Amino acid sequence: MCGICAYVGKENAVKHVLEGLKILEYRGYDSAGISYIENEKLRTIKAVGEIANLEQKVDEIFSNIAVGHTRWATHGGVTENNAHPHLSFTQNIAMVHNGIIENYKELKEELKLDKWNSQTDTEVFVNLVETEKGNLIQKLISASQKAIGSFAVAILDKSGFLVLGKRESPLYVAYVKGGIMAVSDTYVLSGLAQEFFTLKDNEFAEIKNDKIYFYNKNGKKITKNSEKMQFFNKKTQIFEKTHMKSEILETKDVLLETFMKYKNGDIFSKVILPKKLKEINLIACGTAYHSSLQGAEYFKKMGISAHSYIASEFRYGNEILNKNALYIFVSQSGETADTIACAKMLKEKGMVCLALTNTPNSYLNQICENVLPTFAGKEIAVASTKAYSCQVFVLYLFSLYLSGKFIEKKEEIEKVLNNFELIDVDKTLVDKISNFEKIFFVGRGQDYITALESSLKLKEITYINSFAIASGELKHGTLALIDKKSIVIALCTEEKTKEKLFSNIEEILAREGSVILVTNFENSFESLKIPTFPSEFMPLIAIIPMQFLALHMCEKLGYNPDKPKNLAKSVTVE
Ligand code: G6P
Repeated sequence: MCGICAYVGKENAVKHVLEGLKILEYRGYDSAGISYIENEKLRTIKAVGEIANLEQKVDEIFSNIAVGHTRWATHGGVTENNAHPHLSFTQNIAMVHNGIIENYKELKEELKLDKWNSQTDTEVFVNLVETEKGNLIQKLISASQKAIGSFAVAILDKSGFLVLGKRESPLYVAYVKGGIMAVSDTYVLSGLAQEFFTLKDNEFAEIKNDKIYFYNKNGKKITKNSEKMQFFNKKTQIFEKTHMKSEILETKDVLLETFMKYKNGDIFSKVILPKKLKEINLIACGTAYHSSLQGAEYFKKMGISAHSYIASEFRYGNEILNKNALYIFVSQSGETADTIACAKMLKEKGMVCLALTNTPNSYLNQICENVLPTFAGKEIAVASTKAYSCQVFVLYLFSLYLSGKFIEKKEEIEKVLNNFELIDVDKTLVDKISNFEKIFFVGRGQDYITALESSLKLKEITYINSFAIASGELKHGTLALIDKKSIVIALCTEEKTKEKLFSNIEEILAREGSVILVTNFENSFESLKIPTFPSEFMPLIAIIPMQFLALHMCEKLGYNPDKPKNLAKSVTVE
């Protein structure tokens, strides 16, 4: 959610920043902007839309220092004026910001400026900084004490240096070839740096005379240790027209890769568990919440009590905490604000926390220390696919490990993965489903979880109004919506509920709704056949055609599946 990239050094900062912003575009892509110094003047260029629009405007510019931003709008619409960087009233400093200043309205009133150029909280923050006393770093530190909320900021001073500050939102800084770079995601530093520094909450930095100076919240200089870059696995990469397609097609390889990494049990043996493990609570958002639901099913099957929670609900809910529980935070990015907020809260209360993430060095990993990585490789498309599969898979492996069954199951797992099939959906079916006004996904048990994830995929990238429901619940309300304009995609991979689901299908057909059954069982309905694997693997098998279905419907409508409107891959605001 908003990406920051800044560079100062011998090379062309504008070029470095643009390259960085392209990598960070997954964090938001409604507008972008850059500030740089040319002939001792602070200049700013902005553009609405993708980075490519900005790139056209800054072609041929050379500068040794620049800050750039790619935006996901929080305050104020998508306009050039609201795009970052924002300048202070003196025009001496330009700020890029990721986060939300919650008390910006009060601060704005106190500042009493004659003119505001945007509707953003960031313009308020940069002016607050400008009106504080001292040099720029002192000003930023005192302004941050008055600001409530989250921020990662990079400020370019007209006289040719940068200052940085961080609370909640991520910010990293590193010595790179010929200079210094500050970024929202260490992935930008791949190939440019071997080591980097993580700014912790309420830490600040000044980048001057080719050096980085770090400060704490009291303005005292501090020394920080650098961390080694950890890289995503690139072996499994497939290159298709869209990232989403490549990423679905990589699923089999990344599952195998993940299994190879876990096979000898070393990763699990390092996990810190509560002294007496009594229950597991999984906390996550979006797709990761769905993998948590599936994870809870696996733990329960192994006799371990488990619950799954939506992070934004858990945070302000009334859940009773348990010292004998393990709290697992599932997140592809490891930086989702709601999930992070829960992790911080539970860590402070002394609970045993574990991060299950796909991003080495992520903020969530730092908070929890206790980490189970997924090895899905970099996931760029906003709608999560291969990372979801890896999350489900690692939770399954972990349930086996905790119940002492991991070793005996290894052979079966390897066999399944080697025969894993990525089932696509053919065009006729896509055309048929596209004709309906209302699309429902139904299932029971683990198939209901797959239905939830399938519906989310469709909504995310096609903007079609669809929802998922436990098929046994249809008769308690939703059946009222079923008519000729409705199609129900019914998932069925569990023997124990098969007959009940088939009856639910009859009920839909009786009300003139259409049905496509996605199943590995013989049946007399119009169906998409998927192969049979042991039941625990069926969620992994069944989700693939549903991901393809969303992708093909999106393509048919002419949308870009990688960058759905209104969304961002990393949601760093609550
Ligand atoms: C956003 C993304 C979703 C993702 C969710 C959680 O909403 O658009 O695709 O599932 O955040 O992200 P996380 O990185 O925590 O898994």
